[in-house]
Amino acid sequence: MRKLAPGQRLVIATHNPGKLREFATLLAPLGVELTSCGELGLPEPEEDAPDFIGNARIKALAAATASGLPALADDSGFSVAALGGAPGVFSARWGGPSKDFAAAMARVHAEIGTNPDRRAWFSCALCLGWPDGNTATFLGRAEGEAVWPPRGPGGFGYDPIFQPHRSSLTYGEMDAATKHQASHRAVAVAQFLAANR
Ligand code: IMP
Repeated sequence: MRKLAPGQRLVIATHNPGKLREFATLLAPLGVELTSCGELGLPEPEEDAPDFIGNARIKALAAATASGLPALADDSGFSVAALGGAPGVFSARWGGPSKDFAAAMARVHAEIGTNPDRRAWFSCALCLGWPDGNTATFLGRAEGEAVWPPRGPGGFGYDPIFQPHRSSLTYGEMDAATKHQASHRAVAVAQFLAANR
């Protein structure tokens, strides 16, 4: 993989200040200088790929081409085996414009119905894209079960209905540090950092 040099400017392909802050913490060991699509006023491309890696690549290359700088994008979501991997790349959209994840979780529960297969996982794809079209991608997964009813006040999105393997707690019941010991996002970031060493 083409590596990032210390001091290099890197665009985080997001308009979400919270995500930029999270990456600033995670990428601190690299010593790169971060900016974001939001700060640079870059447009958001349409995420129309069928998988997480494809969407991360679309976002990274759009940001790299528009800025002339390397860009890091992520794409993530929740998948249920009994639903053929849904909501998957549509995870955010199942929350609707009002980001109603109580309704999205209820829909997951209703669609699983009486199916005894409760396997579920979170995925996080990361893509580092360069202005000349070079890309490197990384995929982290966290495996577990879809539970009902939702448990725990913490986290966001589908956290209260996901119980990772080897835990009696859902992501919604964990503090952030415990969740990210082995979360999909932590696994993908660890791979990215290892490739940059
Ligand atoms: P995006 O990658 O920011 O587009 O997020 C996709 C969607 O997947 C989010 O809106 C959440 O609904 C869901 N999602 C991704 N990661 C997590 C997580 O760690 N916990 C709960 N939901 C998540």
